[in-house]
Amino acid sequence: MTSNEVRKKYIDFFVKRGHVEIPPAPLVLENDPTTLFTSSGMQPLVPYLMGEPHPKGKRLVNSQPSVRAHGKNDDMLEVGDNRHLTVFEMLGNWSLGDYFKEEQLPWFLEYLTKQLGLSRASLWVSIFEGYKNIPKDIVSFEIWKKLGIAENRILYYDVKKNWWSRSGTPDEMPTNEIGGPTSEVFFDFGENLGIHEKSPFKVDKCHPNCDCGRFLEIGNSVFMQYIKTKDGSLKELPQKNVDFGGGLERQAAAVNNDPDTFKTDLFFSLISIIAKNVGEDYDKSGNKNAYRIIADHLKASTFLAVNGVVPSNKEHGYILRRLLRRAIVKTHLLNSEIDPVPMFWQLAQETTEIYDDVYMDSKKDGKIVGEIFKDEVEKFNRSLDRGLKIINTKEKIGAKEAFDLYQSQGFPLELIEELMAEKGQKIDKEEFKKEFEKHQEKSRTAGRGMFKGGLGGHSETEIKYHTATHLLHQALRDVLGDHVHQAGSNINSDRLRFDFTHPTKLTEEEIKKVENEINSKVDEDLKVIREEMPKEEALKKGALAFFPERYPDMTSVYTIGEVDKPYSMELCGGSHVTSTGVIGRVRIKKQESVSSGVRRIYALLE
Ligand code: ALA
Repeated sequence: MTSNEVRKKYIDFFVKRGHVEIPPAPLVLENDPTTLFTSSGMQPLVPYLMGEPHPKGKRLVNSQPSVRAHGKNDDMLEVGDNRHLTVFEMLGNWSLGDYFKEEQLPWFLEYLTKQLGLSRASLWVSIFEGYKNIPKDIVSFEIWKKLGIAENRILYYDVKKNWWSRSGTPDEMPTNEIGGPTSEVFFDFGENLGIHEKSPFKVDKCHPNCDCGRFLEIGNSVFMQYIKTKDGSLKELPQKNVDFGGGLERQAAAVNNDPDTFKTDLFFSLISIIAKNVGEDYDKSGNKNAYRIIADHLKASTFLAVNGVVPSNKEHGYILRRLLRRAIVKTHLLNSEIDPVPMFWQLAQETTEIYDDVYMDSKKDGKIVGEIFKDEVEKFNRSLDRGLKIINTKEKIGAKEAFDLYQSQGFPLELIEELMAEKGQKIDKEEFKKEFEKHQEKSRTAGRGMFKGGLGGHSETEIKYHTATHLLHQALRDVLGDHVHQAGSNINSDRLRFDFTHPTKLTEEEIKKVENEINSKVDEDLKVIREEMPKEEALKKGALAFFPERYPDMTSVYTIGEVDKPYSMELCGGSHVTSTGVIGRVRIKKQESVSSGVRRIYALLE
């Protein structure tokens, strides 16, 4: 069965049961201040899940290309195993206050067994164990049991696994966010995959949510029936909904009876192009993860480029740039003889063929996308080349030199390590880190010097302003929304100036709220903690960054609050106070418009 057939069988199955097929939402969200891309099928349906009538009725179905390479939905660093992807197709069906568990679970099982031909004996299910006042889902337990799933294969899990909302667990949900308990179905590829030898889990401890690759989650029924209220509690929505999502690529892998998603027809032709360029057999390769990263990232990049994204240093374009650069480095590590330009061109063309007539037009899209990739690869190649030249002339590279390369040429540490390993040399990571810290210290001292020299000496005050700027940034986001991003800032000993993205003038009330939030954080005397960490890790943890691109791969991060419960977290090379209490009162004195969509605030310390 081809993946195109799986998609069609799914849609037809639900259309036969009274669902209307709706077109997928655009991948790139231009006017949604809360997120860059569509990351699940339910995203455009939120108002209808909350009660507004949908023009197409109460039963909907579609297949939605979904991006998981940004913000809270960032899987970019997970790609490389058998199943994580940065762009995938989510098969979805919805009940908007119509049917509920009693219909959804039997239907999904019928689809899996009768349409896809999966055996019931290969399926396991998970259900919600309850949390605070949300009861344990015994109703779903009884339904699965009645459907013939063995009791020891129906497993209860907590909020981390069996609760779904766009923002995570009930405690993580902001006011007005909707969510609910879930029931997931897993396909079991069997105990004898041999993958457990590499896994930290023992075979007898393996369970559906184990990461070893034996189990693949192929569908998630969310019983979307709660909304978070202002007082922090969960309230029942006026209607009980079903929000189902299942990965097409994963269902296709289950049909193939092979846990490697990259062996399905949605990926294998891409893998084959890479294998041909490398000159080896994928199945025998010890570098499968590099193949998977290149295939995934090129497919994802093609989806973004077809949707109008071009590489740049911010927002959508930055995600595309990161995907391409990671793929270039992986290609180089796989086989340094490969010229990524023609290979990426082939991969882009092949992607448009996989999705021809579904989401792409292979006759025109492949060429346009190929051109975009070519430009980007050539640009990045120049910096790689410069670094490679330097490295190739050396027998040994000390940590300091490695750091200089990486600092001045943007040459990835991963690649320096790999190239020097070929010459039998290991880069001393500890030393590298020390170099990094020295550099940070130097720029901090330079920063202080600049304050002193240029602005008449009150460096302590300016340091306070600097920390106050982080508080202001976070408070603006809390009061106005996560679309607020720093667009510039300037500090002197008399005031701070902060530019940020926001479409409208702030009301008096909003200004008061922001001011109150900052001052309450000052009163709490929160700790200000500096840590060194890889930039990608920091961004993944949710650290804010003015220009992520400008920070080195190892970077310093300032957290205000506790490390595991931050109030604010930003990539920053500046100097800060050690706790917020010393800042004193912060007053917002003035606001103005800088340009369309960008506002400016002036604030003083009293
Ligand atoms: N919205 C649910 C998910 O993304 C189905 O998993």
